[in-house]
Amino acid sequence: MRFLFAALSVSLALAGCNVPESGDPGAPKVAPVLDRPDAIDTQTFAKPLEARVNHVDLDLDLDFETKTVSGTAMIDIIADKGVDTVILDDDGLEIESVTDAEGKPLEYEVGEAVEGKGAPLSITMGDAREITIAYSASDADALQWLSPEQTAGGDHPYLFSQGQATLNRTWIPTQDSPGIRQTWSARISAPEELTVVMSGLSQGDPEQLDDGRRAFTFAMDKPVAPYLIALAAGDIVFEELGPRSGVWSEPEMIEAAAKELEDTEAMIEAAEELYGPYRWGRYDMIVLPPAFPYGGMENPVMTFLTPTFIAGDKSLTGLIAHELAHSWSGNLVTNAVWGDGWLNEGVTSYFENRIIEQVYGKERAEQEAALSYANIVKTLADVGMDAPGTALHTKSDGGELIGSAIAYDKGAYFLRTIEHEVGRDRFDAWLTQWFDNHAFQPATSQMILDDMMENLVESPEEAEKLKLREWIFEPGLPDNVYKPDPKAFAEVDAAAAAFANDRKLDDKAWESWTSAERQRFLANLPRTLENAELAGLDEALRLSASTNNEELFLWLDLAMANRYEAAVPQTEQFLSRVGRAKFVRPLFTTLMDQGAWGQAIARRVYAKTRSSYHSVTQGGVDKVLNPAGA
Ligand code: BES
Ligand code: ZN
Repeated sequence: MRFLFAALSVSLALAGCNVPESGDPGAPKVAPVLDRPDAIDTQTFAKPLEARVNHVDLDLDLDFETKTVSGTAMIDIIADKGVDTVILDDDGLEIESVTDAEGKPLEYEVGEAVEGKGAPLSITMGDAREITIAYSASDADALQWLSPEQTAGGDHPYLFSQGQATLNRTWIPTQDSPGIRQTWSARISAPEELTVVMSGLSQGDPEQLDDGRRAFTFAMDKPVAPYLIALAAGDIVFEELGPRSGVWSEPEMIEAAAKELEDTEAMIEAAEELYGPYRWGRYDMIVLPPAFPYGGMENPVMTFLTPTFIAGDKSLTGLIAHELAHSWSGNLVTNAVWGDGWLNEGVTSYFENRIIEQVYGKERAEQEAALSYANIVKTLADVGMDAPGTALHTKSDGGELIGSAIAYDKGAYFLRTIEHEVGRDRFDAWLTQWFDNHAFQPATSQMILDDMMENLVESPEEAEKLKLREWIFEPGLPDNVYKPDPKAFAEVDAAAAAFANDRKLDDKAWESWTSAERQRFLANLPRTLENAELAGLDEALRLSASTNNEELFLWLDLAMANRYEAAVPQTEQFLSRVGRAKFVRPLFTTLMDQGAWGQAIARRVYAKTRSSYHSVTQGGVDKVLNPAGA
């Protein structure tokens, strides 16, 4: 295997900056790009083996009036002598000029755009290896600009970015591919009422500018995949959680957020005990307004979170364990191509469950694992055991077709099965060395398989038993899968059966259940119910008053599936408040499946709510309301 290494040692000293302690001093300044065929990313226009970005330095102004970011990106390129062209990814950027280090204009061309991929920005750089692009980005898909009304405070606008998978090219001109790791730095100016945070360490107090603005500086001195460059700006405050962790949110939410996140340090310690040191220095989080399209996003040193995980009882903090685990699987060792997304999400989901076990105990971990297994079984029943998209390694972009069941749940069950077969000690030692030996590097499915054969499997008999190749490259679910303990949900499943048989309900039992048990119960209720039965359920279990958004979502979905008029106003309210695609898209799907009754509701509500959703959520719901794309 041949790596493209930088011949020169690039000095990234940040002039005049007192760079804070940033975790792993051993991180390389230049990360290798893989040249193996299975690591070629078809979703980028970049040709990193010819010329690659090594560092991005952003200097950008945020304009909330015009929803525009504008300024410069200074880019350091690594290329052999004589290579005179570099190709960046560009999706809708307005480019003003491209110049070299002396300010001399360089020729450039924006090629033909491809839907969902943007266009190649080819720059004729000659001998130049430092390039400055002056540009602006308006209404970029990665960025969501919130009006004051969309925030908890109501007085200030808000902005956040979401880069994964290929959206950062809508606001940053760089090589937007997970296998092309880059260090970066940034100076971001915003109206002085707002505070800016990024997925890099803050480089000191903001600078007060004389036009009523402030400028914030950040740096990420470890090479990261460029989808992990992220920014948020709003009227936000910080609360410390532990020696290296804290949380940002609007003032209205900070107390509830900090309370829900009080186990963060315990989780970091558990993760370190499992798979080695946390290498990024700080672990901070920001709880965003409910328009955020995901549950969480693992932006380095600054996990982005939906506020919908705050249930008041820490029952949904699996999300935190998940995003934290990405600090190893995903951010340290990264899928080189999105078709190997299970290397990020499946390994992380496995790791998440191990953190939950360590921090909250085996019972909760087993229940959450059982929910995940049910998701695999249900999805495979829906799409078929031999649907090609049900292999862990996919040729496509790891898109949403099959949802989370394959990359996340089958991925996690793959590792869980191996752990069961070889024993925890051997498995953990193997996974630790995988993270260590591939730290700050991209990886592929074939690479992890080779690594298992070399560093884990001890005999041909064991190899046969594990069925590693089948798990990774074949559709369906191998028969050696280590199933969850059937006892995990024995009581709940009996209760759901009792309700199905004679509408018996035990509200005392419900009160005593964990959130995973309640979710299981709601998911296992008969899908067809009378209005009076739904009213009875709601009254006995107080579902519509739930402060747990996972449970509330399951209830509203069941209610809409039965055209339960009494729950329509609350569904409408939920869809107006929350922009998390995981909730919004299925609710619209359920409504659209209800004939004229539900379709009228869906169209009326979406006409009102669409503009309040992130482009990711809009894209998903557009397809539901307009399947033909008409
Ligand atoms: N990295 C993902 C979010 C993501 C996935 C963004 C694909 C864009 C494309 C994040 O770590 C994630 O998995 N979030 C889940 C959390 C859950 C599995 C605990 C989510 O948002 O629901
Ligand atoms: Zn994830």
